[in-house]
Amino acid sequence: MVKEFISQEKILSKNFFNCKWEAPSNIALIKYWGKSPVQIPMNPSISFTLKNCLTKTDISFEPIKNTSNKVKFEFTYNGESKSDFNSKLEIFFERIINYQPFLIDYYLKINSVNNFPHSSGIASSASAMAALSACLIDFENSHNPIVKKHKKTSFLSRLGSGSACRSVSGPIMTWGKHSKIPKSNDFYATKFLGYHQIFDTYCDSILLVDSGKKEVSSTLGHELMKKHPFASSRFKQAKNNFSLLCVALKSGDLDSFIKIVENEALQLHAMMMTSNPYFILIKPKTLNIINEIRDFRRKFNIPICFTLDAGANVHLLYPQIHKSDVLEFIKKNLSIYCNNCYINDEVGVGIKKIKFVL
Ligand code: DP6
Repeated sequence: MVKEFISQEKILSKNFFNCKWEAPSNIALIKYWGKSPVQIPMNPSISFTLKNCLTKTDISFEPIKNTSNKVKFEFTYNGESKSDFNSKLEIFFERIINYQPFLIDYYLKINSVNNFPHSSGIASSASAMAALSACLIDFENSHNPIVKKHKKTSFLSRLGSGSACRSVSGPIMTWGKHSKIPKSNDFYATKFLGYHQIFDTYCDSILLVDSGKKEVSSTLGHELMKKHPFASSRFKQAKNNFSLLCVALKSGDLDSFIKIVENEALQLHAMMMTSNPYFILIKPKTLNIINEIRDFRRKFNIPICFTLDAGANVHLLYPQIHKSDVLEFIKKNLSIYCNNCYINDEVGVGIKKIKFVL
């Protein structure tokens, strides 16, 4: 138990309450892949918080009599009942109940909607868990003010989905203990400070090679790292890449940035391809895009690079000054590999409260 986040047992004025929050997805530059219980990463990670790929979640809290020790809730996606998410939510509530024990006394009506395809390799669980946690913290805070609101939101989010803890703030977040980051820890994300101004407006165009359901859940992927023959070497390399990336983020050295970020993306997929059972999540079109990116970079000396999530989609990262050239390049050379489906995003600042309209 992490004492600083344990809340009062009861909420005294038991009234109906509702609120709505949005949270963005994030894209990891140093990947979190491998964890120990409960939701403790095997290596520190760094991510860009995004701006346009969002989950919007509203919750109504209705006081009830509940003699069980489980949180009672219903979940709808865009107004329609979606039982697929219930088991994930049940696990989440079991993990957070010690930190928000008063939730037992309420019935939670949760409705969520994404503006991008969920389960497609865009980290939808990250934005979903961050938006949900933001609502829970808003509820708690409006009755019993919390001092470290953002920290506790990130803490709860992590218990829903590890990478979600990095979606609460932005634009660059780290999660996991590392000697280079003061106050870094395994329980919630911390802002990466002192980065070069080029990263203030960094862009991420996400090419949707495959917007279908993921073949492997990240939970299973993390599990497979436990017996992975290369696990200890991977964790060592992630820590080393983390240190190197901190330097590149501060100096704005884009050559190093590109080398480290692409290496991390490929290591992630190398881990999946060499686990038992193995998973090949990249598609031939993913490789076509990667080759095009390398050619374009060499030919025009424009510092774009790719990263990948646990799926076939490609995140194209580049400084904003090159946006028009890159968009032209996507239209001309890459759109054929993604059926012209791509999302232009950029770095953002994290969760935001939305005016609630019933
Ligand atoms: C490849 O955060 O989805 O996106 O903690 O089991 O929910 P759980 O895993 P999740 O894993 C994300 C893996 C990744 C890399 C990253 O975002 O760091």
